[in-house]
Amino acid sequence: MINDLWYKNAVIYSLGVGTYMDANGDGIGDFEGLTRRLDYLSGLGITAVWLMPFQKSPFRDNGYDISDYYSVDPRFGTMGDFVEFTRGAEQRGLRVLIDLVVNHTSDQHPWFQEARSDPNSKYRDWYVWSKKKPPHAEEGVAFPGVQKSTWSYDQAAKAWYFHRFYDFQPDLNTSNPHVQAEILKIMGFWIQLGVSGFRMDAVPFVIATKGADVTKPTEQYDMLRQLREFLQWREGDSIILAEANVPPNTDMHYFGDEGERMQMMFNFLVNQNLFYALAIADSRPLARALGKTRARPPTAQWGNFLRNHDELDLGRLTQAQCDAVFAAFGPEKSMQLYGRGIRRRLAPMLQGDRRRIELAYSLMFTLPGTPVLRYGDELGMGDDLDLPERNCARTPMQWSSEANGGFTKSEKPILPVVDEGPYGYRHVNAAFQRRDPESMLNWTERIIRMRKEVPEVGWGDFEVLDAGTPCVLAMRYDWRNNSVLFLHNLDAKPREVVFHPGLQGGAGDLLVNLLADDHSRAGKGGRHQVLLEAYGYRWYRVGGLDYLLKRSDVDRKRAHNKAAHRDRGGAP
Ligand code: NOJ
Ligand code: CA
Repeated sequence: MINDLWYKNAVIYSLGVGTYMDANGDGIGDFEGLTRRLDYLSGLGITAVWLMPFQKSPFRDNGYDISDYYSVDPRFGTMGDFVEFTRGAEQRGLRVLIDLVVNHTSDQHPWFQEARSDPNSKYRDWYVWSKKKPPHAEEGVAFPGVQKSTWSYDQAAKAWYFHRFYDFQPDLNTSNPHVQAEILKIMGFWIQLGVSGFRMDAVPFVIATKGADVTKPTEQYDMLRQLREFLQWREGDSIILAEANVPPNTDMHYFGDEGERMQMMFNFLVNQNLFYALAIADSRPLARALGKTRARPPTAQWGNFLRNHDELDLGRLTQAQCDAVFAAFGPEKSMQLYGRGIRRRLAPMLQGDRRRIELAYSLMFTLPGTPVLRYGDELGMGDDLDLPERNCARTPMQWSSEANGGFTKSEKPILPVVDEGPYGYRHVNAAFQRRDPESMLNWTERIIRMRKEVPEVGWGDFEVLDAGTPCVLAMRYDWRNNSVLFLHNLDAKPREVVFHPGLQGGAGDLLVNLLADDHSRAGKGGRHQVLLEAYGYRWYRVGGLDYLLKRSDVDRKRAHNKAAHRDRGGAP
């Protein structure tokens, strides 16, 4: 295969337009401001931007309640401003992904308004109704503690409507062919305006059967192929990055056995086990999660992340594991959310300990897949736990030590800028960090640069090596006649590891450190001995720096590995 599927070795950066940069001084970030910051983004080295919803919306769920899919909300600018942005991004070689929120609309959407007021409206059947209150109405709420039910009564319709999320987000009847056709139209529209694809919201719910009589929803996976086919017909290299927090035995249903469904999915299992592993300084849960999510078609890709705009959902861990993560990273009730997650930003979760923040990022950048960063994490921004629910981690970007962090000239920013304590904008901002070679910002820039030069992580096969201690995760990737090797010490104590790179005939005898000068030469029996500092990490190239001269054009190794893996009785 030719290795130019862009998402296989990308670095994605996510942001909400409203909290990034306010150009017109009304306190709300806008497309014009974002466009002015494109040089910052391209300098950071990221290769794609994922925008949270910016279409017309009452903003009761941060824009995930859309009232017009074919628009830019006026608070963020005009369609013209949007196209200036995608054009500016393209000029700098940056891809743009946008959220596709089609599981539900806002209750203010004209479709819903018409559907509820007129039983004969063509939109009536675009939503999910019931004459009586369904018996299981209290089950399956997405936001326990805040949301009471998944069915609410509508006075105008004189019927109950289904909503997986908040009651102001009525679910679309996604099995209705007219709704499906409209979803394609929405995708086609934005593709035409310069986006490279979509982060698709709540995918398992979009494809699930819905209705008062549905007690156990079933997923209609073939819908995914339809979306994918349409998209690639319109624009060959556009993709869907699916938000699907699902058990690993269904992953292949989302990717498709032949890679004919979603190109990318977020790896929620790895995300949760990564935090658990960090909490208990034991790499084994993470290694197990990597094993469980290993299977994917060669064209498919995982999106790896630490934090996003939602809570850190720990719902796939056992209660005891979840409690361990709470104890380590979110001990107070105010830091937790929905009984299953932590709502803080990364830096405060890790007590601002630079060693641990680097360790967590280094891990994220070297796990199998494509890294997805969150705006402000490149500065180690903090949160504001006084803000409700998930808004605490959505405060404005901190650009400088000027008023309101340089985010806006207005005295009333859309959400308060963090201005007190160690994470306040006077201490944590892009302008300061730019001038400091050792800053988090410059570290992130360097690590992104290096990560892009290690396509083995995005494309290759991985093996978890025995490091002699569970505190240390040792991994090797192989791709096209080249190998790279990573060590991560999750422990607060220094650890010495002795390991074999697992390659034959002395091929692993020299490990060249990609980030510093301490290279490693194998001792007896081809074993390496490395002393890692507390929370230390290493990125090595196996062999030497002449690797590009050795790179082959085809994946001989992949075919070989697959066969070997099968012979050992592993799952294909
Ligand atoms: C998932 C999004 O990430 C979250 O922010 C939103 O509230 C729900 N989907 C509903 O759209
Ligand atoms: Ca503005």
